[in-house]
Amino acid sequence: MSATLLPESDLSRARDEVATCIRADGLGPGLHLLTLEAPEAAREALPGEFAQLQVVPGPLLRRPFSFSGVDPGRGTVSFYLRVYGEGTRRLAQLSPGSPVRLLGPLGRGFSLPQVKGSSLLVAGGVGAAPFPHLAGQLLARGERVRWLNGAASADQLFPLGLLPAGLAGSLQVTDDGSSGRQGLLTDALAELLDGVDRVYACGPNPMLQAVAEMASRLRPEALVEVSLEAPMGCGFGTCLGCSIPLLSQGTAVPGLCCRQGPVLAADQVDWEGLRRQPSHLE
Ligand SMILES: Cc1cc2nc3c(=O)[nH]c(=O)nc-3n(C[C@H](O)[C@H](O)[C@H](O)COP(=O)(O)OP(=O)(O)OC[C@H]3O[C@@H](n4cnc5c(N)ncnc54)[C@H](O)[C@@H]3O)c2cc1C
Ligand code: FES
Repeated sequence: MSATLLPESDLSRARDEVATCIRADGLGPGLHLLTLEAPEAAREALPGEFAQLQVVPGPLLRRPFSFSGVDPGRGTVSFYLRVYGEGTRRLAQLSPGSPVRLLGPLGRGFSLPQVKGSSLLVAGGVGAAPFPHLAGQLLARGERVRWLNGAASADQLFPLGLLPAGLAGSLQVTDDGSSGRQGLLTDALAELLDGVDRVYACGPNPMLQAVAEMASRLRPEALVEVSLEAPMGCGFGTCLGCSIPLLSQGTAVPGLCCRQGPVLAADQVDWEGLRRQPSHLE
């Protein structure tokens, strides 16, 4: 793979620690919130960064998950998981006291504002994962933060009670209308973009592309950042399994989701290239 011009993540803060599960809460069908005692990660993890988790003992490769909640005082971190295959099934079955191998923080996270403004957080399904931590950091900086969450049905929405207090507004959208407004998240987006300085989005790639296009059309002055997914073996740039098509100064370049991402400015993503890439995330 040729080198890209985009900056890579700083691996010097990553640690390999054996964390301990202290809570495992079911939040809906196939959805879990795992809270781990992991003092080193809790000290370091920034919004949008991820950890590679592995149940121990276990033969599986580690799996990548965004830090969802981070409490440096208690030395805990939490992860919002959707059961997908064997690795997430094993993590979802953990009980308090179980050890979990945690490598992190990894990747490049969301950029945090230097000047107060207005942020919109856009979460599709389990893409809500990185936002409790991000919302907490934005609110602590005096940012006005609004929340837009879309999911297939009510039981797949992220619980509002798990977001930090102080949001300036929230809107939930479901495909089947079982909670909030019926429709697609992107149907509701246009009305929330007015006056926004920053849009942070995480969810399926087609949703991210739609958010990026709509934001650049209706609110071109806003910073738009997206958190992408790719299949990850190592999480730190060695296996080359997480290749994604990027743009650097308008030129297509191959990138690594684990080093240049997972969070990228929307205009750094080659969306058409990404759309043509075979999807492993259905
Ligand atoms: C940066 C990043 C952050 C993520 N954060 C979250 C999160 O907070 N919550 C959450 O529920 N999910 C998250 N995911 C997706 C999660 O990593 C996958 O669902 C998980 O790896 C699937 O593993 P599995 O063993 O259950 O599935 P399997 O199908 O058994 O996995 C098989 C292989 O495919 C890879 N793989 C499969 N799906 C994905 C995927 N979506 N992303 C990356 N690799 C995949 C696995 O690493 C594994 O090597 C994130 C992915 C990335 C890249
Ligand atoms: S996950 Fe191995 S290089 Fe990115």
